[in-house]
Amino acid sequence: MFQKDLLQAKRILITGGGTGLGKAAAQRFLELGAEVYLCGRRQDVLAATEQELHERTGGSRDHKKIHTLPCDVRDAAAVEELIGAIWAEGPLDVLMNNAAGNFLSRTEDLSLGAFQSVIGIVLLGTLHTTMACGRRWLAESRGGVVLNITTTYTTTGSAYVVPSAVAKAGVHALTRSLAVEWGNRGIRMNAIAPGPIPTEGAFSRLLPRPELAEAAKKRIPLGRFGTTEEFANLAAFLVSDGSGYINGDVVTMDGGEWLQGAGEFTALGRELTEEEWQRMRPKKSAPKA
Ligand code: HXC
Ligand code: NAP
Repeated sequence: MFQKDLLQAKRILITGGGTGLGKAAAQRFLELGAEVYLCGRRQDVLAATEQELHERTGGSRDHKKIHTLPCDVRDAAAVEELIGAIWAEGPLDVLMNNAAGNFLSRTEDLSLGAFQSVIGIVLLGTLHTTMACGRRWLAESRGGVVLNITTTYTTTGSAYVVPSAVAKAGVHALTRSLAVEWGNRGIRMNAIAPGPIPTEGAFSRLLPRPELAEAAKKRIPLGRFGTTEEFANLAAFLVSDGSGYINGDVVTMDGGEWLQGAGEFTALGRELTEEEWQRMRPKKSAPKA
């Protein structure tokens, strides 16, 4: 799909890069020539991912292209230390804010700590990394690219995932605001809003019963979930120089799910029988003699 050197020499940090969509993006970026930095809270997960990606992409250990650094993005000081350590080896070109926390709950059952946990990871975590990188890019008068991973419910909201919905909506606003404020200094800021893509992290928390997967697919016009490869390809395009004029946009990749949910007549239309559809067609007038 892409030229093999599309991301040659790009230095990219992926938060939450040890699992799921972040890991898939890391693999694609490596295949396209990038050097990746992956952070997350769990050192053992990061170490296993580094080994796996090394084997899959055949990277040479002489020039290490995969770096894993534990960091809790909720902690502003820890993020500043992380970004400082990366910058000591050279500036980043791309920041992908992918780390997230989420779970299903009735909102009235949530403690303040539950809100703080998810908003801390998703909104403040994104803010911490974006400020740490953005300030450096601006001070050095160099460009940079930020890719934020949101959800399709940033604009609609969603019941039962309210901490995530409010935090992702904040990330959406941050994306659009800084695309304008920093765009004139060479910093591009975009987002991907994925629909459901099977990952252990998301599906173990958001699909309480496996049989609900089939019902979930019925909500998607394309009739299937997205794949990590499709996500990684879109991410590669958006962080590459090939998409250099895209700034402040949110690209939805959900098989049409949210539009199907929003359409006034979609559900009604599926209920109608063949006979009812035929009855609603205009009556053919008799042919003129
Ligand atoms: C209600 C909960 C809860 C639950 C935790 N809490 N789980 N409340 N229902 N299921 C509360 C706790 O009681 C606590 O509040 C607070 O949240 C923090 O919980 P901890 O377990 O101490 O936090 P921590 O260990 O830091 O874990 C954070 C986490 C966890 C967010 C709770 O789920 C996590 O580590 N998630 C990371 C990965 C992830 O969520 N991936 C899914 C992304 S999918 P108190 O008040 O007791 O202190 C996604 C979009 C999907 O984002 C869209 C699909 C289409
Ligand atoms: P995932 O595998 O659970 O990924 C979340 C990652 O974030 C994990 O690697 C986790 O690692 C890391 N993380 C969590 N809290 C952190 C913290 N405080 N500091 C640093 N890292 C932290 O889930 P995923 O499905 O790949 O999700 C990736 C992104 O896609 C998220 O932004 C999610 O909201 C978005 N998304 C996913 C879907 C989907 O269907 N999969 C749909 C829409 C949007 P540690 O636990 O080791 O810290």
